[in-house]
Amino acid sequence: MSHSLAARYRTAFVTGASTGLGLAFAEMLLAEGVEVWGTTRDPKRLPARARFHAVALELGDGAAAEEIFLEAEHAAGSFDLVVNNAGFGAFGAFAHTEFAVWEEQLRVMLVNTARLSHAALRGMLARNRGALVNVSSIAGEFAMPYQAIYNTTKAGLSALNESLMYEVKGTGVIVIDLRPGDYRTDFEGSVRYPAQTGAPAATASRMARARAVFEGMMRSGPAPAHAAATLRRALQRGRSGTVRTGRFFQAVLAPFLARFGPLKLKRTIQEKYFGL
Ligand SMILES: NC(=O)c1ccc[n+]([C@@H]2O[C@H](COP(=O)([O-])OP(=O)(O)OC[C@H]3O[C@@H](n4cnc5c(N)ncnc54)[C@H](OP(=O)(O)O)[C@@H]3O)[C@@H](O)[C@H]2O)c1
Repeated sequence: MSHSLAARYRTAFVTGASTGLGLAFAEMLLAEGVEVWGTTRDPKRLPARARFHAVALELGDGAAAEEIFLEAEHAAGSFDLVVNNAGFGAFGAFAHTEFAVWEEQLRVMLVNTARLSHAALRGMLARNRGALVNVSSIAGEFAMPYQAIYNTTKAGLSALNESLMYEVKGTGVIVIDLRPGDYRTDFEGSVRYPAQTGAPAATASRMARARAVFEGMMRSGPAPAHAAATLRRALQRGRSGTVRTGRFFQAVLAPFLARFGPLKLKRTIQEKYFGL
């Protein structure tokens, strides 16, 4: 029998709730009766709703983001659920892109996401209850060409999640490593394509082929509500774990085959797929 999530999670904090997966997660939680604090860099992007609190948060500044999180936690009393979802893509050749681009992505999606996880877990462990969900990606296990640091942040975040699962065991707190495949969100529109300096023509044409495949994958993905339904089921199970979601091929078949095949085969298939 499925109970409403509000029976277990009274309050939730969701980063990047203005659009895409974060918006779908917030809407699913509101529909379940959960009171939601949702973040965006621009609160005008969030419509006024009952039981929804818009929070202005820029993840580029870790100290400020932590302070804003703690203020929201104070206002809520406590958070039973924290979903670290905010993130963005950056597409470019690693060596031909200014390192500042990669550094910002590491800061937002790995360092400061870990910092909010740290702040969230302190409260949850003090209360011996709560769920931390960090939105990683299938890209952490199947690296996408020309998104080196995106893949790195997601692999790192999944490693953090897995490490934390050991630490919270037996405490009443759970950690969910959510790994979506491609979804049809604003992500495609918000991916940055930084200037490429000194890239040879051959690199430019390889990048163009990989970019066309990547954009096609994003456009043909399921709608974000599908990922929200997966998250809802995972929260209802109430157990720590890795949860993949998306098309059958990305979420089930590819990870299953990769587990038993050699890594070289996985890379060869990826190279062919992305036209490299
Ligand atoms: N879409 C996919 O296919 C897919 C697949 C696997 C994993 N994911 C992951 O899922 C998460 C959500 O992606 P999405 O597809 O829903 O993307 P999206 O539609 O572009 O939404 C991204 C959200 O992150 C917020 N954000 C971006 N940069 C931020 C920053 N510096 N500080 C604070 N907030 C920031 C945005 O808030 P603003 O309102 O401030 O712009 C927005 O709400 C990301 O972590 C992404 O890596 C997505």
